[in-house]
Formats: sequence, C-alpha cells, structure tokens
Amino acid sequence: MTELELIVDLHKQSERQGPGSEKDTLRALEVMNLPTNHDLKVADIGCGSGGQTISLAKHINAQITAVDLFPEFLDQLNEKSQELAFTDRIVTLEKSMEDLPFENEAFDIIWSEGAIYNIGFEHGLKKWKNYLKVGGYLSVSEITWITQSRPQEIEVFWKTEYPEIDTASNKIKQLENNGYSLVGYFYLSQDSWLETYYKPMQARFEHFLKRHQHSELARKVVEAHQAEIDMYHKFKDYYSYGFYIARKN
Ligand SMILES: C[S@@+](CC[C@H](N)C(=O)[O-])C[C@H]1O[C@@H](n2cnc3c(N)ncnc32)[C@H](O)[C@@H]1O
Repeated sequence: MTELELIVDLHKQSERQGPGSEKDTLRALEVMNLPTNHDLKVADIGCGSGGQTISLAKHINAQITAVDLFPEFLDQLNEKSQELAFTDRIVTLEKSMEDLPFENEAFDIIWSEGAIYNIGFEHGLKKWKNYLKVGGYLSVSEITWITQSRPQEIEVFWKTEYPEIDTASNKIKQLENNGYSLVGYFYLSQDSWLETYYKPMQARFEHFLKRHQHSELARKVVEAHQAEIDMYHKFKDYYSYGFYIARKN
C-alpha cells in the first residue's frame, strides 16, 4: 500500500475525517433558518464517510449530493445511508471538488466541513459560487487563527502546511469580496477536535498497525498523525476550525 492508501485506510472507518461534530453541523444549520416545506438541493463537498451528510439528511428536507475523491469513504457513506433508508435522499459522487459536473445555480446549500482547504478557501468560494442559487447558503469550516498573535512555532507550522490560514475577520472579508454576505460564524470547541476526532483516531492506531504488520510506512503514518495531535495539544488556544455560514448575493 502507498502512504496515501494507508492514510485512507486509517480514516475510512471513522465517523469523521476531520474536526467537527453533529452539534456543530446543527448549529450551522440553525443559523440558516431554512424553510421546512420544500425539498432543498444540497451539495456536501469533501464529504468523507459522511458524518455531516447523515446529520443533514436527518434534520432537513433535502436531496443531498455528497462528493468525495475517495471511493473508500463514499462506500462507507452508502452503507450508512442504506441502513438508515436514506438512499433516495443521498446520492454519492466520486469527483474532485476542483472539477464538479454541476449546473449553474443548481443548489440551495453548499456544505463543506474541513475540506475546502484542498483547493484553497478563496479559490473554493469563487468556484462553488456558480453552483449556488442567488440567496443560497455556503456553509464551510476552515482552519482559522482564533487570536491576533501566536507563538512562532505554530505560526511557522501552519504557514508551511497551509499558507491561507488566517483570522476570521480576514476570511469574512474574502467572503464579502467574493459576493457573499456573512450570516453566522463560530469556531469549533476543543471537544470537537478531541472527543469526535483525535481520541477515536488514537483508539484505532493499534489495530491499524496490526493490520499492516507494523510496516515502516504504517508506523510513519501513525507518527505523523500523533505529531499533529501533539501540536494541537500544545497550541489549541491559537487555532481552530472556523465555521462560516454565508449567503450568495
Ligand atoms: C478533513 S476531511 C473532511 C471530511 C468530512 N467532511 C468530515 O468533516 O468528516 C477532507 C475530505 O476531503 C476529501 N478530498 C480531498 N481532496 C479532494 C478533492 N480534490 N475533491 C474532493 N474531495 C477531496 C478527502 O477525501 C476527505 O474526505
């Protein structure tokens, strides 16, 4: 297995592939104050194994197109969707978020938790706006500084990993400069990193290593994830995922 295949294998059976929780998904949904009487068209981009997709299907009257690059994640979502009898409401699509086959103004809501960074926040805002109806909602979470200054070690780490990391006020400016109006913002609590993402991931390490006979590459994957967790513990007061809910003008 390649390193990427191992990473997918480590993550595919988890509820979520990034920080977040059902509570956060519902909080973002609440901000929208959606009509309950008609079927909404929703795209969930970078859905992973669909933790938030299932929450959306449970709480709104919607047809959801859930997109991801990796079929292993979509298989997990399709299984859950069958168990919960959501197959007529959730359609999965194996595609890159950079190259989506959607028509202009096809959706009432574009949802994306912890995934827009794959093409960059501002690029994603511009590109996905075409697929939203006027007045439709964009609901995205994105790594965000939660203080105005921070230790150099974490500044350098994130600037290397993802140079677009910024404060919420600058991210909101980008939304406004690209034809959106902000309707809500909050950032994820530490529980949404630790309880629903990092702790369940750490609990899978041992079985993952066993499955891959403690190969050098498998150990490298676990070490890299542990280093990310250690970094979070050390600097969790300085960054989080910001949740941005905005309307297309
Ligand atoms: C951090 S995970 C978040 C998954 C899920 N939304 C969640 O919060 O649990 C990012 C997701 O983006 C997907 N992804 C990465 N690059 C992509 C691309 N170019 N197009 C579509 N999905 C992509 C990954 O497979 C992964 O499922």
